[in-house]
Amino acid sequence: MTEVPFPDARVHFGVFFQGVNHSTVWSDPSSGSQIDFETFRRVATTAERGLFDAFFLGEGLRLREQDGQLLDTDIAGRPDAIAQLVALAGLTDRIGLVATQNTTYNEPADLARRLSGLDLLSEGRAGWNVVTTDNAWTGENFRRGGFLDHAHRYERATEFLTTAREIWDSWSDRAIAPSRRSSSWLTPGAVRTIERDTDHFQVAITPTLPRSPQGHPVIFQAGVSSQGRDFAAAHAEVIFSPFGTNFEPAREFADDIRTRLVAAGRPADDIRILPGTQIVLAERESEVEEKKRWVLEQQITGATALSLVGQVWGRDLSHLDPDGPLPAEDPEQSVISGTRGAQRDGQDRVAIAGQWRELAESRGLSLRQVAIETTARFGFAGTPGQVADELTRWVRHGASDGFNITPYLVPTGLDDIVDWLIPELQERGSYPTEYTGTTLREHLRLRPPLTRR
Ligand SMILES: Cc1cc2nc3c(=O)[nH]c(=O)nc-3n(C[C@H](O)[C@H](O)[C@H](O)COP(=O)(O)O)c2cc1C
Repeated sequence: MTEVPFPDARVHFGVFFQGVNHSTVWSDPSSGSQIDFETFRRVATTAERGLFDAFFLGEGLRLREQDGQLLDTDIAGRPDAIAQLVALAGLTDRIGLVATQNTTYNEPADLARRLSGLDLLSEGRAGWNVVTTDNAWTGENFRRGGFLDHAHRYERATEFLTTAREIWDSWSDRAIAPSRRSSSWLTPGAVRTIERDTDHFQVAITPTLPRSPQGHPVIFQAGVSSQGRDFAAAHAEVIFSPFGTNFEPAREFADDIRTRLVAAGRPADDIRILPGTQIVLAERESEVEEKKRWVLEQQITGATALSLVGQVWGRDLSHLDPDGPLPAEDPEQSVISGTRGAQRDGQDRVAIAGQWRELAESRGLSLRQVAIETTARFGFAGTPGQVADELTRWVRHGASDGFNITPYLVPTGLDDIVDWLIPELQERGSYPTEYTGTTLREHLRLRPPLTRR
């Protein structure tokens, strides 16, 4: 029998509510509004019913476009994460509330304060997914107008987070008057001013808020370059990774993070790794493939497929039949740059087109099928029992600590996960039967914040 390295490991779940994206199915009759608050409330309360650790929001600060045209099959129009989460804090009791916010265009005094506000109002349930944001075109939104290169984005992120932690540590635990009879509201000397004079920040900050019940918001990170991984190993408590489909790459990533954590002087279990994933459940094994295919075809409709292939070819292909072959002519030799905010920006058109043609020819695929094969990040599909076995195997063999699940339908896409999958996980002893703590840090079984140990 093969040894199980983490026999007591449990599955942690977050629900990943995407920002601007094309993979949430909005055109099916069973889909609800993509932007109404009721939709967010319904997803968050269903996740809480399923004892999820976190409701997690991505951030898209600009609509994606190609050659000056908005990508009009994308979902857009979702409000700012912190505003949404503060509203949800009042309608939920236990679930963590995580906002993706970038360190390239924000300022530490402002963002740390808004995150503190969320943490205080939710009584210790806030998390911050720290991202550096890789799109030059997002920078056009901001006064700085610019964009930092990759290395400088991580340098700024490090200084940003260090400053944010100092802000969260700046009020002593006894800063506020203990009683009405005290002579002052703030204890003299109890609030520290933070000064920074670096290339990125020249500030003197006197923070305005006390510490929350969990010390600091829980720090998540998303970014998989070597620098991104070192940044996580030095500063993060949870990683939102893209390795949520295949076991081996996920385990390699997790092993690499554990090695980097130890090199950074932290215990190997000091970070929870939650890959983004999608879960498709069918009641019977015979229905699994059909349901999986249905989801993929809903996500990559004919129009979306023509748009995705058009981004690589660098021209409007909307006149083609998505169920026919790839375009007869190759794209012109150039890098993809007319597409702003899409995944393949900066890559070589002809090289990608060549790979896609090879795939189409070897497997007899249509244009739409090629788009599905090359762009859909799948995840898990099976009966509830099969998926429960597989998720349990992942956490017990060190490939992840759980999953940040993207429902393909909102607001109902978590219902079968909560009603069918979670009882199966509970039966296997790999999922809790109640919330045992009140803060996000407690749900994730994390140690105190790095500056408070
Ligand atoms: C799983 C995952 C999710 C991400 N989500 C966001 C997001 O919601 N908003 C954003 O601006 N950037 C997001 N990013 C991009 C990061 O901000 C970062 O710019 C990018 O990954 C480049 O850094 P890297 O080279 O270290 O991967 C995400 C990255 C990953 C891997």
